[in-house]
Amino acid sequence: MLGVCYYPEHWPERFWKRDAERMMALGIRHVRIGEFAWSRLEPARGQFDFGWLDRAMDILHAAGLKIVLGTPTATPPKWLMDEYPEIAPVDDQGRVRGFGSRRHYSFSSDVWWKESTRIVEIVATRYGQHPGLEGWQTDNEYGCHDTTLSWGPEDLKAFRRWLRLRYQSPEQLNEAWGSVFWSMEVQSFDEVTLPNLTVTEPNPAARLDFWRFHSDQIAAYDRMQCDIIRARSPGRWITHNFMGFVNDFDHWKVAENLDLASWDSYPIGFVEKFPFTEEERTRWAETSHPDIAAFHHDLYRGVGRGRFWVMEQQPGPVNWAPWNPVPKPGMVRLWTMEALAHGADVVSYFRWRQAPFAQEQMHAGLNLPGLDELSTGGREAEQVAGELARIGSLPESAKAPVAIVYDYETYWSLMIQPQGKDFRYEELAFRWYEAVRRLGLDVDFVAPGASLSGYRLVLVPCLMHVSEAARTAFEKADGVVLYGPRTGSRTRNFAIPENLPPGPLMDLVGLRVTQVASLRPGLAHAIKGAIEGEAVRWRDHVETSSEVLAHFADGGPAIVRHENHLYAAAWTEGDTLAALIRHCVEQAGISATAVPDAVRIRRRGPLAFAFNYGLEPYVLAEEGPFLIGEKTLMPQSLAVWRVAAAD
Ligand code: GAL
Repeated sequence: MLGVCYYPEHWPERFWKRDAERMMALGIRHVRIGEFAWSRLEPARGQFDFGWLDRAMDILHAAGLKIVLGTPTATPPKWLMDEYPEIAPVDDQGRVRGFGSRRHYSFSSDVWWKESTRIVEIVATRYGQHPGLEGWQTDNEYGCHDTTLSWGPEDLKAFRRWLRLRYQSPEQLNEAWGSVFWSMEVQSFDEVTLPNLTVTEPNPAARLDFWRFHSDQIAAYDRMQCDIIRARSPGRWITHNFMGFVNDFDHWKVAENLDLASWDSYPIGFVEKFPFTEEERTRWAETSHPDIAAFHHDLYRGVGRGRFWVMEQQPGPVNWAPWNPVPKPGMVRLWTMEALAHGADVVSYFRWRQAPFAQEQMHAGLNLPGLDELSTGGREAEQVAGELARIGSLPESAKAPVAIVYDYETYWSLMIQPQGKDFRYEELAFRWYEAVRRLGLDVDFVAPGASLSGYRLVLVPCLMHVSEAARTAFEKADGVVLYGPRTGSRTRNFAIPENLPPGPLMDLVGLRVTQVASLRPGLAHAIKGAIEGEAVRWRDHVETSSEVLAHFADGGPAIVRHENHLYAAAWTEGDTLAALIRHCVEQAGISATAVPDAVRIRRRGPLAFAFNYGLEPYVLAEEGPFLIGEKTLMPQSLAVWRVAAAD
């Protein structure tokens, strides 16, 4: 169940055999290689050097390791960029993002597609049947370093092509975007401009389409790679390593190409990336927040239709966050077990040995730079390997009682039109997740429109546009469904629905939204009733004849219920959100036991896992026997036990 990312091209060849043997001795069985190696595979156009990779793969295989090979497209080499400078992406200020790091390509460049096809075909043909090869990784972290959107001439060309297909005629485009506003109408698709560098804000429907277009491109680009690999490497699976807190493209769509999802887990680095309060950042600086990795494990288990890997696991301090502390002792072990508890097939550490050179020289590995000596994280990985051998194979994850509907378009829509500066989708979804997890419950993530049957509680933090399929799924849901503010507030073309929000959900929830208010920090509207607390950041002003569970002080409905559908006309957080989620959990008849804010529980089939991210010991209600750990959960430690059948 353990793997590692390895870069044979970074080390003298005499290291390879010993590295492979030491991986095996540590308990590692999977190794990912090759994803940045283009300049070594093809140092100049048409001049290939496969010898080193042939030998490296043979050595890894001979040692007993299973190999995951990355296609090298995240790093087009210098000669290619010189030949075709138009491959480079362009930022929203019109500046070229050039050669010198990685991900320096635009998905819109035709020549880039041709070159990607060529190199993927060559690599897949050469290695597709290698006996040590178990699977493939396409590219590396689509969208990382803000590389989903690009704003160059190639992008404009491709965007116009995409619009032509979608709208057929300029009239229909004008109609869909509402281009009559500010005289933005075009007479032909060739008149369409990029939605950037305008005097004031560009049309929101145009921006949303620009985002959709790029997202579709990533899915198609990934599909192109997968089709080539499948034809040349039958019997091997394909994944892509997604990132944490990257929402710029639709992961559900990309994953349709893949056999399993994977993601790169840097729990401490992400503490700085997410909009936590400064107090929270300091508190969780050396352990990470207990829901950061878990949120993504659950999301990617959903994205991967039940199967996911952690392709890169933080093994110690990283180099790329504003501050990079050493994880507290025990955290590398804890994160590894936590990923497995959430259903990961494999946890693969990034990386085998710290590189003493180049951009990531401050990034830890399982080994110290240049030496055959395990780092602190490496020793923890070794401990995990021993413990996993004791547990044996892990069972399948069961369906969770709670589902969260997660939607990438909603993220884009709210980036385009926050209306209140702090209305952030990923924050909303994360806080709802946190509130459920604080009740000790397991969570699945589902795409909008996917079946919700069998879930006792369905949470929809926000879904701006409710498609026909999504509406049907909500209507058929047999559990309690809770919708957050602004759900159903836009049509597919980014207009306010004719019947007013929540548009297609109106008959399910029995209300309409006639005004909305964003609330600046410090401004709150009190809520009283079955749920008590306050609205912050946002309030929908609602008219309803349905049951009102809680009111605002001015009498306006705050929480509305119609049969099994509840609507929260407010952004809630902290105690108010906790009360709202608790209410829904009770309504759904789910039995729940609250855990302290630093402790989390997760079940994988008949196994239960507990994790302590905090500073204080926690005494579990469980009496054991424990497969790992004990009744008292010490700080940064974990326990595993078998759940009695009745649970
Ligand atoms: C990931 C990336 C790796 C490495 C790592 C460092 O985002 O896929 O190549 O850069 O971060 O933490």
